[in-house]
Amino acid sequence: MEENARVEQLKTKFKDYFGAEAEFIARAPGRVNLIGEHTDYNGGFVLPAAIDRSVLIAVKDLPGSRKVELVSLEFDNHTSFDLDNIKPTQEKALSWSNYVMAVVWALTQKGLIDLATLPGAQLVIQGDVPRGSGLSSSAAIEVASALTFLRLGGATTDGATLALTCQKAENEFIGVKSGIMDQFISALGQPDSALLIDTRSLEYKVVPLGLEELGYRVVAVDSAVPRSLGSTAYNQRRAECEESVKILAPKLGLKEGAQLRDITLEQFTAHSADLPDILRKRARHVINEDARTLEAVSLMQAGFSKNNNLARFGELLYASHASLRDDYEVSCKELDLLVELASGCVGVVGARMTGAGFGGCTVNIVQTQHLDDFEQKVVQEYRRRTGLEAKMHVCKAVAGGSYLA
Ligand code: GLA
Repeated sequence: MEENARVEQLKTKFKDYFGAEAEFIARAPGRVNLIGEHTDYNGGFVLPAAIDRSVLIAVKDLPGSRKVELVSLEFDNHTSFDLDNIKPTQEKALSWSNYVMAVVWALTQKGLIDLATLPGAQLVIQGDVPRGSGLSSSAAIEVASALTFLRLGGATTDGATLALTCQKAENEFIGVKSGIMDQFISALGQPDSALLIDTRSLEYKVVPLGLEELGYRVVAVDSAVPRSLGSTAYNQRRAECEESVKILAPKLGLKEGAQLRDITLEQFTAHSADLPDILRKRARHVINEDARTLEAVSLMQAGFSKNNNLARFGELLYASHASLRDDYEVSCKELDLLVELASGCVGVVGARMTGAGFGGCTVNIVQTQHLDDFEQKVVQEYRRRTGLEAKMHVCKAVAGGSYLA
């Protein structure tokens, strides 16, 4: 459903639940990462785009109340929490509400809102970012919640602070040690563009995609594999990256606080024998992935219509996937199959897993005229071979978090 239609439906639902009009709507999108995977907690580069799948929150304040009442249309349930007693719920079915609480907590911790004077509120939440599929539904609910409570607290902030606050919520309240990419792109995405984000300085460049005008689309394919083992392995990868820097830093004379981002390919090649096998593979992925991401951006900036730039971009996506599969070991056989099937399709420029891995989505660059063919060859063949219902999402790059009305 188009976002405008979703907004109208949400307003009606709000009235049905709370018997009054919503005062405003906060929205924040999910994302697809084109390239630059598992680099953001290594101080490296990422190239995500915000997509036309979002979380919308319809809001009304309750002056004088300390209660936040929440309804989730997606989960078809409701709950509430007290502003004077913010702590995570243990009830699984209501775990979505923890993201909202987490953000209130983080905004307060950062001094962006004053909890003592914050009014209670009624919220109806509607999202169409597929859950647990690596398209950052949690970043979307965090950013939309942060916009909600900033406005309720009469405050504003810049996009980077918004993203850092949501990352704090995710890292410290939810307990997932994610990097900054997802929250950053959800807060700051730009229409028809990806952002090259330097995840250390948080400087970023808007990089126009330039695909649709050439007859290509960005397509996410959800493998329908739940990412159950994801967070343990994610934290383990982070630790492995830190460990490899610890070993290499003294040999390379790197300063305190150095990250894999600070190690050039030449330095790595000269010293890679100093690392145990596993750490060598992990570091090699991150260092090569940073180089691939910067090359991808220079191809986009030079223009996909020139030379073989689009084809080279596609090669970088395939190379990224191979590296995530073989060196970083965060893919799975279903994601590998989706990439393999895509690579055999006419009109496909490149494909790779996107997001944390261990399930979730692939990202594909597909010629618009071959989308139907792609669906048949990839989605249907995948179903035939695995019995799983993959889902295809043709995406548009959109603006980051905003208020509607
Ligand atoms: C998840 C995390 C991000 C990033 C990716 C992998 O999406 O939330 O911070 O680390 O995995 O690139």
